[in-house]
Amino acid sequence: MYEGLPGHKRGLLFFVAVCVVFMQAGLWAGRRETRNNFPDNSLVKTSSLLALVKSDSQPSIKEHPIPKLMAEAENSFRERLARQSKTLSEAVAEYKRRYGRNPPRGFDRWWQFAKDNNVLMVDEYDAVVEDLSPFWDVDSAELRERASAAGHLPAIDLVRVKGGKATAENIRDGPRSEVSARARGFKQMIEKFQDQLPDIDFPINAMAEGRILVPWEYRKYPNLTDIQLSDLLSGVFTPDWRGEGNVWEAFRRTCEPHSSARRLFSSFRASSTSTNRTSQLTTRNHEFVFARQTHGNYSFCHNPWAHYNQGHFFSDWRTIPMLFPIFSPAKASGYQDIRIPSHYYYAQTRRYTYGWDPVNLELKPVDHMETPWEDKSDLIFWRGASTGGGSSPPGFAAQYQRHRFVRMASDESSTNRTIVFADPPSSTNFISAQVPIRDLNEEIMDVAFVKVVDSFNYPGGVGALMRDHRFDDGGVNLGDHWKHKYLVDMDGMGYSGRFFSFLESDSAVMKATVYKEFFEGWIQPWLHYIPLSASYQEIFNIHAFFSGATPSTLKAANSTALSLPPSKRHPIDGDRRLRRIARAGKQWKRTMGRRVDMEAYIYRLILEYARLCSDDREAMSFTL
Ligand SMILES: *[C@@H]1O[C@H](CO)[C@@H](O)[C@H](O)[C@H]1NC(C)=O
Ligand SMILES: *[C@@H]1O[C@H](CO)[C@@H](O)[C@H](O)[C@H]1NC(C)=O
Ligand SMILES: *[C@@H]1O[C@H](CO)[C@@H](O)[C@H](O)[C@H]1NC(C)=O
Ligand SMILES: *[C@@H]1O[C@H](CO)[C@@H](O)[C@H](O)[C@H]1NC(C)=O
Ligand SMILES: *[C@@H]1O[C@H](CO)[C@@H](O)[C@H](O)[C@H]1NC(C)=O
Repeated sequence: MYEGLPGHKRGLLFFVAVCVVFMQAGLWAGRRETRNNFPDNSLVKTSSLLALVKSDSQPSIKEHPIPKLMAEAENSFRERLARQSKTLSEAVAEYKRRYGRNPPRGFDRWWQFAKDNNVLMVDEYDAVVEDLSPFWDVDSAELRERASAAGHLPAIDLVRVKGGKATAENIRDGPRSEVSARARGFKQMIEKFQDQLPDIDFPINAMAEGRILVPWEYRKYPNLTDIQLSDLLSGVFTPDWRGEGNVWEAFRRTCEPHSSARRLFSSFRASSTSTNRTSQLTTRNHEFVFARQTHGNYSFCHNPWAHYNQGHFFSDWRTIPMLFPIFSPAKASGYQDIRIPSHYYYAQTRRYTYGWDPVNLELKPVDHMETPWEDKSDLIFWRGASTGGGSSPPGFAAQYQRHRFVRMASDESSTNRTIVFADPPSSTNFISAQVPIRDLNEEIMDVAFVKVVDSFNYPGGVGALMRDHRFDDGGVNLGDHWKHKYLVDMDGMGYSGRFFSFLESDSAVMKATVYKEFFEGWIQPWLHYIPLSASYQEIFNIHAFFSGATPSTLKAANSTALSLPPSKRHPIDGDRRLRRIARAGKQWKRTMGRRVDMEAYIYRLILEYARLCSDDREAMSFTL
């Protein structure tokens, strides 16, 4: 039970504060809409959908799962926001309740910073604690040694604090060599707090990919490790795999001994069965199953077949099998990197920042290419390069996340999809129809690659890549996205740096990812964005729910709505809901995804990390 709620004395004040917070977070306005027409809906089981599809009598679905997902998301977010600590002593108590220890020294100054800057999520730092937890088992002197040694690893820069001042250095390549944008971004993020830090090194991952994959046995029994720091640093450790292993092999070893990924020989020698396994992801019974969240917690250990569908398991970059404290913008499950906000989110650039005016170098509240909601198309829009993984081992690029999506969205076959929609529009009478995917794609998808990257990874080379996928050679600006109501956000070689700009726009974001980022505990799927499954199979039904049946769907169902004028065919309620997601996403970005929120996260993280690096961790704790 949560114990931080204020007593009645402060009751009224609390209520007012909560109202303000809700208004800030863009929740109050639409509250009534959550009392929807679907009072007791539960997720429609796949089997009932299939039964429905097979039956001739067309029984209707009484409850669509999406309103329930949205209502639950809203409640859960509302509760989380309302229960945040109001005072320092509440925050300290909450910290102790969650983590069973005192907060780090400097917590009071952190609290003041958070309060001064209206940081709303003051208790939600589980990600920090989760990421740092393995380092409690490492002796502090050892930890400091590993941190400074990490500067000799490939693509790791050090941000070093000495005498209260931070510098960013590329140790491996020498003093005059270039320092990565990520390290420079991190240095900027800690600038306000550097004078409060002891002398300390932060190893910053210069790449988008996660780096640290420690075998299960070494995690469990650290003293068993036969890897020597000196071996890793001696130059034998090349940046890429050079054919000696790959990410999946390294990942498998992080799984517990009895998991499928460890047992299955085929899980790493499975090229012959991979199409079969992949078919599990593309079977049609996923068409009406909606993901509750993105794939960051998905167990590839227990579903080894699924790794073929994610490019990051094929990265050419060698992972590091030893526990170094590496600060990375994102981590996939199984990794032990320490999450920090992405420099793309923190910096202000033409390619990654909504509302950035590159001429006057200022931030505008509305991007100059923004489009009013009513004028946005109902299309699902995505553009990007054909990246997404490396070639270790080669030959699997066709199954990487981007390639699968582009192929699905430009499928011109007559394969049917089962589409569930309200008939008549805006009613709660949901029926289904079998609609050729080619027609749906034509009507609702605007998805294409804009750039050929690493085509040699693709079976058949560049010719096959171009033949199998839609390419739009027109190029695309960030602002071109705002013409559409649905923006898909998808992983590339790592996490997607465009997420924050998409959120801040007036469009709704559909996100598929295998990564977890620092804001995990602050954001709410189905409230601020629409989570997509790794198969994307449900995307047609998401569209049908919010935007209504397309002409070919109405035709397939022989719906009477066909005789309505097109403007009357759209579900008003669905469109309003979609707009709510767009607005809530924007409001989230402006209240919890600000630069100062990222600073609050970093500030708390570095206090925790400084304590871990100290010889007397106890003394580096904060008590009231
Ligand atoms: C490893 O640590 C365990 C306790 O965690 C201890 O019992 C064992 O003796 C250690 N082994 C070595 C080789 O140091
Ligand atoms: C693929 O799966 C089918 C049935 O699920 C099976 O009959 C077939 O042998 C499998 N093919 C391979 C290559 O494993
Ligand atoms: C992963 O699990 C944690 C703990 O249950 C949860 O807080 C978090 O939201 C989940 N993240 C994702 C991306 O599903
Ligand atoms: C698709 O569904 C229609 C009914 O809407 C049916 O007549 C047609 O045979 C189906 N096509 C395929 C390829 O299954
Ligand atoms: C479509 O519906 C109309 C009436 O709404 C009916 O007359 C017609 O026979 C139906 N067509 C098919 C193919 O079911």
